[in-house]
Amino acid sequence: MKGTPTILITGGAGFIGSHVVRRFVTKYPQYRIVNLDALTYAGNLENLRDIQNAPNYSFVKADICDAEAVAKVFREHAIDGVIHLAAESHVDRSITDPLAFVRTNVFGTVTLLNATKEAWKGGFEGKRFYHVSTDEVYGSLHDGGFFIEETPYDPQSPYSASKASSDHFVRAYGNTYKLPFVLSNCSNNYGSHHFPEKLIPLMINNIRHNRPLPVYGKGENVRDWLWVEDHAAAIDTIFHTGKNGETYNIGGHNEWKNIDLVHLLCGIMDRKLGRAEGESAKLITYVTDRAGHDLRYAIDASKIERELGWRPSITFEEGLERTVDWYLANTEWLDHVTSGTYQQYYAEHYAGR
Ligand code: NAD
Ligand code: DAU
Repeated sequence: MKGTPTILITGGAGFIGSHVVRRFVTKYPQYRIVNLDALTYAGNLENLRDIQNAPNYSFVKADICDAEAVAKVFREHAIDGVIHLAAESHVDRSITDPLAFVRTNVFGTVTLLNATKEAWKGGFEGKRFYHVSTDEVYGSLHDGGFFIEETPYDPQSPYSASKASSDHFVRAYGNTYKLPFVLSNCSNNYGSHHFPEKLIPLMINNIRHNRPLPVYGKGENVRDWLWVEDHAAAIDTIFHTGKNGETYNIGGHNEWKNIDLVHLLCGIMDRKLGRAEGESAKLITYVTDRAGHDLRYAIDASKIERELGWRPSITFEEGLERTVDWYLANTEWLDHVTSGTYQQYYAEHYAGR
């Protein structure tokens, strides 16, 4: 990006979005960053308190499904680039309410694409639309191997089906209208500001309160974990140096069975909380499996490493230590986000499992 570009980041009040906003606002003071977020249960402006008064940052509360509101943002700011992260992101919620995922992830993405295309109808020179997606679009690995960029799409949950659909729409706009785009599919992220409905922050919060640790099924499902700040760094790299129309897989080369990960976390928490070794692991409780639970995700990230020079910057052990430290130093944040509707969600989701 040349000069003083204005970049619209959607979903910037969420987990990954807040790390991307912080990185761009602080690393590129010459850019103007507009964060558009509907502030759903997952969006929280507390995530951005440290940069909220930065002169190059502004926030707009709007829903990406609201065509007029999105068009207004494009009218009021001369947007040069879009980094699209706004989404419904939790697989379990997609199982109970698939239409919420169709609405935001499919309808919302197409609404945003339309607004972008209309705003840039004078020419695409210097413009770029970046769609942030997930490795879950590739389905579930059962016989070894890794997801590569050419792996055929085979989404298995309403969440991944909605993300796959949004990916297809972005590529269709690239093909049909020549909208300049880049797309990335990333593995599981972990780190600070992660909403505690997801595995790692949920376990940290429950260990802290001596509550049962609900492990789905036998705990044998495998995920490939990447530190969220490394994902934000990859997004920065792809946004600035990725090739138009290309897809990049992002992952941590860091596969863990859920049960092994929970044991690792229990050990770290025992140490940090001054508990006897093995104390927190006594809280592990096997519960009814997730419906249609994908067995294993694993990313081959060699394309982004080879072509763009990105690679993870820290080990999992180091990232997890930092993550636990952050949650223990920010119990106020945890208490805020787990008050109110979180209690109701938790009671309904885990009741009778
Ligand atoms: P998140 O749920 O923490 O945050 C989503 C954000 O989007 C929230 O701030 C929310 O308020 C906002 N939002 C939701 N619906 C909206 C709407 N209709 N209009 C405007 N804003 C809306 O999600 P996350 O984990 O930070 O994920 C961000 C993106 O990265 C998603 O597109 C997700 O699919 C993708 N992704 C996530 C992971 C992961 O491990 N969390 C991995 C790969 C890709
Ligand atoms: O792979 C990328 C995806 O990772 C992102 O696209 C999604 O937005 C993100 O939510 C994440 O999806 P997962 O379903 O893998 O993440 P989650 O944290 O929900 O679950 C991780 C694993 O832990 C999964 O195998 C289910 C299991 N699990 C989860 C919860 C919440 C449990 O065993 N117990 C739990 O209470």
